[in-house]
Amino acid sequence: MTDFAVLHSPACTAIWEVRPDEAPLWRYWGPRLPDGVVPPTPLRDERPEPSFSLHHDVPLSLFPGIGMGWFGAPALAAHRGGADWAHAATACRVEQVGEDTLHIHLSDDVAGLAIVIVARLDPASDVLTLSTTLTNRGEGVLDVGWLASACLPLPPDAREVLSYTGRHNSEFVAVRDALSRAGWRRENRRGLTSHDAFPGAIVTCADGTAYGAQLAWSGNHVQSIDWIDDGRRQWLLGEGLAPGEMRLSPGESLTTPEMLATVSALGADGVSQAFHRAIRARIAWPGGAMSPRKVHLNTWEGFYFDHDPAALQDLATAAAQVGVERFVLDDGWFAGRHDDTSSLGDWRPDPLTYPEGLGPLAAHVTALGMDFGLWVEPEMVNPDSDLYRAHPDWALHIDGRPLLTARHQLVLDMSLPQVRDHLCDAIAALLRSLPIAYLKWDHNRDLTHAGNRATYRAQVLGTYALMARLRAAFPAVEIESCAGGGGRIDAGIIAHTHRFWTSDCIDAISRVGIQRGFLRFMPPELMGSHVGACPAHSTGRMQAMAFRSGVALPGHFGVELDVRGLNDADRAELAAAIARYKALRGRFHQGLVWQGAAGDGVVWQAHGSADDLLLHVTRTAPTTWRHAPHLRLPMLDPARRYHLTPEGGAPVTVAGSWLVHAGLALPPLAGEAVAIYTLTAA
Ligand code: GLA
Repeated sequence: MTDFAVLHSPACTAIWEVRPDEAPLWRYWGPRLPDGVVPPTPLRDERPEPSFSLHHDVPLSLFPGIGMGWFGAPALAAHRGGADWAHAATACRVEQVGEDTLHIHLSDDVAGLAIVIVARLDPASDVLTLSTTLTNRGEGVLDVGWLASACLPLPPDAREVLSYTGRHNSEFVAVRDALSRAGWRRENRRGLTSHDAFPGAIVTCADGTAYGAQLAWSGNHVQSIDWIDDGRRQWLLGEGLAPGEMRLSPGESLTTPEMLATVSALGADGVSQAFHRAIRARIAWPGGAMSPRKVHLNTWEGFYFDHDPAALQDLATAAAQVGVERFVLDDGWFAGRHDDTSSLGDWRPDPLTYPEGLGPLAAHVTALGMDFGLWVEPEMVNPDSDLYRAHPDWALHIDGRPLLTARHQLVLDMSLPQVRDHLCDAIAALLRSLPIAYLKWDHNRDLTHAGNRATYRAQVLGTYALMARLRAAFPAVEIESCAGGGGRIDAGIIAHTHRFWTSDCIDAISRVGIQRGFLRFMPPELMGSHVGACPAHSTGRMQAMAFRSGVALPGHFGVELDVRGLNDADRAELAAAIARYKALRGRFHQGLVWQGAAGDGVVWQAHGSADDLLLHVTRTAPTTWRHAPHLRLPMLDPARRYHLTPEGGAPVTVAGSWLVHAGLALPPLAGEAVAIYTLTAA
């Protein structure tokens, strides 16, 4: 009798074939199968021995090995001084922990390894979370070069993989690669999540089913998809380890970051919706639940380093008048910081600019009824700073090699407890002495020489630990994850933070693509989306206030310009946009999100539930068609009727089948425009 391990969620099923002497074989990962359905035969019975092949068939398992008959990519690359490099589990025990979790205990008694894979298929989100713990049970140090968080199977009709690349000011550039018999691979070696390689992807199949995976990790990563001999593919995702970074002494363990995976018969939107549910569940909100996302005013693009307390107070007053709820004082407030060449590390108010400290400004802000937020970049130090002069050895360096600066700054070694203690004390002193409700936590450079022995992993864990300490001590403070815009957007850091700064590019046209990519993996309420100046600082392009605010509307809305300099019409329009956001945020946030394109430069996203949603339509370029496209809404129920209300217009009732198959007739929209509709099932 063959044993199977099975996990079900409402939309997904995972099935493994289990034997006591090998890693569980992947039999199924896909849309939900009925209860009780298991493979009719053991896998090997379905696979007669091919010519010139091993007599012992080694199919794809949850922990594929190396050197013992698995010829695909391994989940582990490790050795002891060149020995014990070949790996295959010799024992397996599957322990069911509650309804939805398996602990898969593997050992390799020859190579001296113990492995525990935790697999949880969450019924609330439809996300399968996998992580792997490797323990060195042999004699001598185990040098680990690679340990996948997990290995997933993809079906033979997997066709295309959607991943995201980019750079500063251009995050979430979609890349669509056709899957073939050649391998697909994306790596990030920049030491933090990076603008260049979001740690996840979405694979679509010929039948429309979509598979998604993302790594909950803010450091280096590797993901690969390889064709395997039975026509399926294997998808590996895990942390990228530098040479010598992970050397386990006897008895020591390494636990991978978690991999979040899901599958949806509804395609990429279904994958995104499952990810949104899982990400929401990872957030520790002050008070236990998300409060309405406050309208921000961020001082960066309005003021840069030009801090004048009187002008900032005026700005706060003007911001409060248009409806801003949180005033975030960005870079430039601390000792000696007048441009980007100095002072990172010296986290006390600049005595020249702020002779009385930040107290008066913070008091002014809070007296206006707004939260006060502050920008910090804790992991960084400028060589020109008191901190660096006192502790040059705290910056990451490699003896004998030059220090490589970026934006004139170096990175502190977060693996050192004294560095974390110092930063914790410095930030805690600010949080204690000022009414700070919010920290914008930045990280404005890539990691290069991460220590004489590579400490990329320790760097990430050190930052998580520092954030966790501060959150425990100041549980009411929210944190925004920023890294030169969207360089640290991932499911790992969100366990310690509450918002992502999506991009330093606030050009509304650029933002359309950036935000659509973001929403593939992350929910809208975490998406920092600001109304910037005109022309946009990052591109020089000009966009109307209505368009800028319309594009920012579905995310966590903010303003990043000098409100005082707006003309009356723009100020009134901004105030109206803020009022509109406040009225709609409860519907844009926390719901399901669908995305689509109608053609002719028109894209759309819908927020809410299938019977009550807000439709956000964006024209991104002047039309080239004589008549506007029809916008089809596949998520509606064709059997129902819907009340359709254009913003500011009168409702009409339309058959769901019409909207699903023929589509909503759009009015002519200006070259750059946003239109909002509500749709409610009758
Ligand atoms: C990064 C951030 C910006 C701003 C600057 C300050 O670029 O993404 O929003 O905070 O740093 O130096």
